[in-house]
Amino acid sequence: MANDRFVIELLGEQHNRAMFRCADHQINNYFRRHAVTNMQSRIANPWVLRDRETDLIVGFYTLSTASLDFDSVPEQFTAHLPHYPVPVVLLGRMGVDRRYERQGFGRRLVIDALMRVYQQDVMAVYSMIVDPKESVRDFYIRFGFIPLADDPHRLFLHLETFMPS
Ligand SMILES: CC(C)(COP(=O)(O)OP(=O)(O)OC[C@H]1O[C@@H](n2cnc3c(N)ncnc32)[C@H](O)[C@@H]1OP(=O)(O)O)[C@@H](O)C(=O)NCCC(=O)NCCS
Repeated sequence: MANDRFVIELLGEQHNRAMFRCADHQINNYFRRHAVTNMQSRIANPWVLRDRETDLIVGFYTLSTASLDFDSVPEQFTAHLPHYPVPVVLLGRMGVDRRYERQGFGRRLVIDALMRVYQQDVMAVYSMIVDPKESVRDFYIRFGFIPLADDPHRLFLHLETFMPS
């Protein structure tokens, strides 16, 4: 089946990080030099989209836990929240290899991240947040992420309102 060509898995020894090249130099550097250490330190888990046919890494994203002050949560989503810090997941670094850009893989990675967090029941997570560069902000807005009033660079997506089509 065509879908079996691509698989999303936790970063491991088998992945060829050195070959990965997205359009952002800092993200490449992070992925090559720091992703494994950060995973081993339980700072951020990198999820990797691999092309089984070429064995290249198509793209990756990282997830970490975080929290938001109650006052930072967009007002329309505060109805039943206690006035405590709210548990969220940070979609940290993300990139798609230039050889695979603009073919829907970035979208696939974001949806995978949202579904992965939404479907797990180990811990309560209220929303996903992301701190994108200005040049890719619109990429996230398309999924329904909205800017925080007190920090417009940070985007927020309430998981209950995320309904994949
Ligand atoms: C941003 C990035 C992840 C997008 O990946 P991609 O695989 O090319 O994106 P997709 O093909 O899935 O695009 C999905 C949609 O977003 C749009 N899109 C892609 N890149 C975009 C951008 N930079 N800004 C706005 N929209 C963008 C596409 O046109 C597409 O729209 P459509 O559904 O109407 O056709 C990729 O370009 C990348 O790795 N960039 C360098 C690293 C980076 O900036 N990472 C984000 C750090 S915050």
